[in-house]
Amino acid sequence: MTSRVALVTGGTGGIGTAICRKLATLGHRVATNYRDHDRALDWQQKMRAEGLEILLVPGDVCFADQAQAMVDEVTAQLGPVEILVNNAGITRDTTFHKMEAQQWNEVIDTNLNSVFNMTRPVIGGMRDRRWGRIIQISSINGQKGQYGQANYAAAKAGMHGFTISLAQENAKFGITVNTVSPGYIGTDMVMAVPEDVRNKIVAQIPTGRLGTPEDIAYSVAFFTAEEAAWITGANLSANGGQYMGW
Ligand code: CAA
Ligand code: NAP
Repeated sequence: MTSRVALVTGGTGGIGTAICRKLATLGHRVATNYRDHDRALDWQQKMRAEGLEILLVPGDVCFADQAQAMVDEVTAQLGPVEILVNNAGITRDTTFHKMEAQQWNEVIDTNLNSVFNMTRPVIGGMRDRRWGRIIQISSINGQKGQYGQANYAAAKAGMHGFTISLAQENAKFGITVNTVSPGYIGTDMVMAVPEDVRNKIVAQIPTGRLGTPEDIAYSVAFFTAEEAAWITGANLSANGGQYMGW
């Protein structure tokens, strides 16, 4: 297997940790960003205890200058970014008639504008080198909508619109651009949903359980493979059968 340089945003979070672990275990050189230095160092130590060395770079994906700095730092330490996983994300759930502009803007900045901020600094190099893998971590709720998530669903649907446009522009350059749309995964983000509401959601999942971060990491690894060179512009649902639109 060819060892590639992978940058995973939000890599210290629930799903991000599993993605970093999976890509590093496959032999890639992996980096992620952090905002809280002490928490990130603890996380890095845990990964080290598993035998995995993950590079940490400071930065907030909401800001283009910080995104550029992250890419520059990864390039300096590991080499040019060949795999980008746009995974960082947040929720600010509330019904739209109560939504404040701040709740809208924070979600659009973190979940969608971040995709511009992170991808813009890496795309030129990928085109020059004629190889790249860009993966958006969207959501089932970008596909089907969700009560209380007009902001989040708009951002997540927007991510896939980005994917299918960038895929067309870069197919001739050996770059694939794909989306993974996870269903409900048992991370802090889902645990923040009130328990009674969450139980009703789990009851709608045909597999009868929440997904695991590893379920999503496997989907990401699939798109990063050398053999996946002809798969571009796809939206892979990994949701336990909760939504089967096509
Ligand atoms: N369908 C229909 N009605 C619903 C509903 C649904 N899915 N969810 C809530 N309602 C109804 C309630 O029954 C209640 O009705 P009544 O007024 O008739 O009693 C009403 O909405 C409550 O509305 P409010 O505006 O007062 O809202 P609230 O303050 O109670 O909170 C909410 C509403 C924020 C949407 C809350 O229900 C919630 O957190 N829902 C979960 C949203 C969700 O799935 N978020 C996903 C987070 S994880 C994630 O995002 C990861 C991922 O990608 C999957
Ligand atoms: P999580 O555990 O809350 O992790 C989110 C990660 O994103 C954290 O590392 C967080 O860093 C980082 N992040 C947030 N805002 C950032 C910013 N402005 N700049 C840099 N990093 C930032 O959530 P998760 O469940 O792993 O979710 C990961 C992705 O999967 C998100 O895009 C989410 O929307 C998507 N998703 C999740 C589910 C699910 O059920 N969990 C389902 C579908 C899609 P800090 O620690 O610094 O906050």
